[in-house]
Amino acid sequence: MHRLELLTLLVSLGYAHVLRTPSIDNPALLEARKDGYDDNIVKIDANAPDHNQDFYRFVTRPDIDAPRWNIQKHNESAIAPGYWFLAPYQDPRQKERGGGWVGPHIYDGNGELIWSGVPMLNGFDAFDFKVSNYKGQDMLSMIYRHENGILINSQYELEEELDVQDEHGGRLNMHDFSLAENGTTALMLKTFTRSAEQAELDAADMEYECRVHYYGFEEHDIATGEVLFDWRSQGIVGLEETVFAHRPKLACHRDGGLDYIHANALDKFPDGDYLLSARHCNALFKISAKDGSIVWRFGGKKSDFKWNGHFSGQHHARVRGQNSTHTMISFLDNAYVPSAEHVYSNDMSRGFLIALRTDQEHMTAETIAQYDHPDGGYAPGRGSYQTLPNGNTYVGWTSYSLFSEYDADGNLILEANLRPELKSYRSYKFPWVGHPAELPSARSVAVSTDRNSTVTTSVHVSWNGATEVATWKVYHTKADGSSEKLLASSPRQGFETALTFPGYAKHVVVEAYDSQGKALGKSDVVKTVEPLNLYNAAVLEEDRWQQESGKGFSANIAPAASSSTPLMPISAGSFGIAFGFGILCCAIGILVGFLLWRARFATQMTKWPWQRASYEKIKEKDDADETLVGEETDQMFQKKRVPDEEHHTLSRDSSEGSEV
Ligand SMILES: *[C@@H]1O[C@H](CO)[C@@H](O)[C@H](O)[C@H]1NC(C)=O
Ligand SMILES: *[C@@H]1O[C@H](CO)[C@@H](O)[C@H](O)[C@H]1NC(C)=O
Ligand SMILES: *[C@@H]1O[C@H](CO)[C@@H](O)[C@H](O)[C@H]1NC(C)=O
Ligand SMILES: *[C@@H]1O[C@H](CO)[C@@H](O)[C@H](O)[C@H]1NC(C)=O
Repeated sequence: MHRLELLTLLVSLGYAHVLRTPSIDNPALLEARKDGYDDNIVKIDANAPDHNQDFYRFVTRPDIDAPRWNIQKHNESAIAPGYWFLAPYQDPRQKERGGGWVGPHIYDGNGELIWSGVPMLNGFDAFDFKVSNYKGQDMLSMIYRHENGILINSQYELEEELDVQDEHGGRLNMHDFSLAENGTTALMLKTFTRSAEQAELDAADMEYECRVHYYGFEEHDIATGEVLFDWRSQGIVGLEETVFAHRPKLACHRDGGLDYIHANALDKFPDGDYLLSARHCNALFKISAKDGSIVWRFGGKKSDFKWNGHFSGQHHARVRGQNSTHTMISFLDNAYVPSAEHVYSNDMSRGFLIALRTDQEHMTAETIAQYDHPDGGYAPGRGSYQTLPNGNTYVGWTSYSLFSEYDADGNLILEANLRPELKSYRSYKFPWVGHPAELPSARSVAVSTDRNSTVTTSVHVSWNGATEVATWKVYHTKADGSSEKLLASSPRQGFETALTFPGYAKHVVVEAYDSQGKALGKSDVVKTVEPLNLYNAAVLEEDRWQQESGKGFSANIAPAASSSTPLMPISAGSFGIAFGFGILCCAIGILVGFLLWRARFATQMTKWPWQRASYEKIKEKDDADETLVGEETDQMFQKKRVPDEEHHTLSRDSSEGSEV
């Protein structure tokens, strides 16, 4: 939407103030969600008994341990369409691969997993995970491992990797990575540390030396890597503007230096200037694209605007529109800055949409909308504020990965959170279409269930990141993937779909279809884990089919859910074979038993040396008999056996089968 249209729309909506109405009945959860913020490393014990309540576990993707949502929809019909984007983090200074939940995730509007970026990004933190328009295409963009801004295409392949190019030792900062100018340039915040100049110290009445974290940003041409604009705070934002910390002298030498600005959001105005959020100044700066000077300050110690409100420790400032008289901005007012001179500026965090009147000498600000924390608590650090295309607002509160959505009148219509330890810096909602380059993952297991020798095969399938799958179909194939016959089909049931059908298929292939019936992609040929009882008729029939090339297959095909006809009906003929086989096994069993008994008897006889000769004669004969038994068995059933461990276990079971 054009920015001016958006501006008009938003202003026409008028002032929407959400009343503080905690919407959660469970007092323990409510207290916990209001909890303070800490930057401790998040530890999750994947073997804890309650783990599976809070995390999804998939048969096909043991590498994914995606968190589950606690969701409350207050007015379902008002909720905007779109997927949820977030990236739970483990440790802002993460050095080693994290758990199966660390990194970017996409969920659908019911909290069902769509994509886990954990396998692709090796379980490392990602920040500012969202959809960006890059050269006219929607891509996933994020800051990865504090080192690069990366772009991932809709096939989930790495498209671009960008870094700051700073000759002063500046490093990419974790907060914000956005594309501008129709996705042709990248905006990147950076941080660098050095000692303050004497003039800066004098201006701030600081009579001691100070190491300072300075901030800056770059705008890159993505195609050429050229730095189009490079700005640094030193000499432009004075040390006296900071509200951090209540003991600045100490802070100059702790944590590597005084974090006097803490720049955490960067956006571009339609006029080409930049909007910079300085959390530790409680201020937003408009920075001139011509000379890098500050055009105006909103908030903080030197605000240029008259406003009957206040904010502090803000995050995610964005330009929402601009015309010749007004500028519309939005941000999350955390209202909380730990170790600041004044820690709290309000009794809860809230999202703000503000209209700035910039055409007068005495500039003014007006609150257009305010969205309070759903529990009346704080987003003590981090957080996000997003305006959705239908006029709804989507706010991320970091702790618990809690986010909430408000309709255009400011009513709370949706809130959702993960388990307490799991924090996400920003939460977003976007439309998204994913067509993964990787193939669907499938696993097939056959189980022989009862003494009737029936076999049930169960196939699980998933496709990490695929958004368009409506139906899954399982096909029976030969080992090389030829002779596909439909076995079962099922609507997609979530990230992972289970299809069960009676009968046994040694090799299967699973194929995805969209809602129009168009094939989207299929798995590799998957070998079914064999049932324990290999001598049942279904297995024998299947083995025969697998061996005979080009033979038709007379299975009854029906959707798994409604199918009551066995895939491999146990025919009278096969019963005959099974019965004969049983009798034979009995006979073999009796023979073997007899031979063993005789062998034991013979062993006793060896006590007397003069009887050894006759014992050895008997033993030779026994060995010969046993060989014969083995050969007979193989000839009888003509089963081609895979010479593996599993097989040996299974063939031993044949003696049990003979009792039937
Ligand atoms: C700018 O937008 C504001 C808010 O929609 C509106 O009140 C004002 O009249 C607009 N100014 C101009 C010059 O269009
Ligand atoms: C729910 O949202 C719909 C659509 O925005 C609206 O018409 C309706 O009044 C809302 N219901 C309540 C109870 O707020
Ligand atoms: C961005 O794209 C739109 C639509 O394709 C076009 O009208 C506009 O001029 C482009 N702006 C820039 C800065 O390239
Ligand atoms: C064996 O098969 C019969 C006929 O199909 C069925 O009625 C019976 O329940 C089966 N027995 C078991 C133990 O499944």
